Amino acid sequence: MDKLNSIQKDDILLEIKDLYYNSGKKEILKGIDLTISSGNIYSIIGVNGTGKTTLAAIIMGLNGYMPTSGKIVFNGTDITKLSVSDRAKLGITLAWQIPANFEGITVKEYLNLKKDGVEPEKCLRLVGLSPDSFLSRTLNENLSGGERKRIELASVISMRPKLAILDEPDSGIDMASISGIRKAIKSFKKIGTTTVLITHNEDMANLADHTFLICDGKIVKEGMPNDVRKFFKKYCKRCDHVGEVREEMLK
Ligand SMILES: Nc1ncnc2c1ncn2[C@@H]1O[C@H](COP(=O)(O)OP(=O)(O)OP(=O)(O)O)[C@@H](O)[C@H]1O
Ligand SMILES: [Mg+2]
Repeated sequence: MDKLNSIQKDDILLEIKDLYYNSGKKEILKGIDLTISSGNIYSIIGVNGTGKTTLAAIIMGLNGYMPTSGKIVFNGTDITKLSVSDRAKLGITLAWQIPANFEGITVKEYLNLKKDGVEPEKCLRLVGLSPDSFLSRTLNENLSGGERKRIELASVISMRPKLAILDEPDSGIDMASISGIRKAIKSFKKIGTTTVLITHNEDMANLADHTFLICDGKIVKEGMPNDVRKFFKKYCKRCDHVGEVREEMLK
């Protein structure tokens, strides 16, 4: 089967080749091969502890996340050994909670950190927050969890990255606000950003053009979100093979 059947494949942005990662003696990623093309949304699904966040940290190049072997090529450049700041300069952003050192500044200042980024007003509108109400708010505990999450996404938009990695952007978000977060993620396409979305939420995962299923440090299935979800429900919800990928799953 053609691995990239559900997406455009002419413009490759990220390629991961035979990537292994150990933390101490524990083998966490066990031969990841993955190709991502520009302009699409990708989702990564899989049960807890299978290596999704680890993979995100390795793509971003966070401290301590150097692959044991394998290669990461971004936009034609081998970034395997580059620092996190060099990767950020090339256009990779990982969305996580608002860093503590930004607490206390205004939302407008926070969304203005990149000089040639997207305007703060536009970023807020794209995530469904009113600029009139939020630009002058301070980043502190008075913002609700959902508001912080949206501001976090707005900050990714403000950076106008080539690649945005979002690790569970729906976590801590109420059901009613999930559609707002979905809209925000769709808006990444409008600013030319390719998105990798790690999620346990079915509606979120279905936003994607293409889904990867990770099991025990390997990609065991990829393709159209619905097909991969069906496979996941059939094999992974009653997972009894921790530490071992069964032959039948790889067919
Ligand atoms: N520094 C570390 N030392 C040892 N084990 C680690 C370390 N970091 C992660 N792990 C283990 O690696 C595995 C993968 O963790 P990871 O956070 O990537 O999982 P995940 O797929 O993101 O799970 P979740 O869906 O729960 O977020 C887990 O078993 C975790 O306990
Ligand atoms: Mg995780």
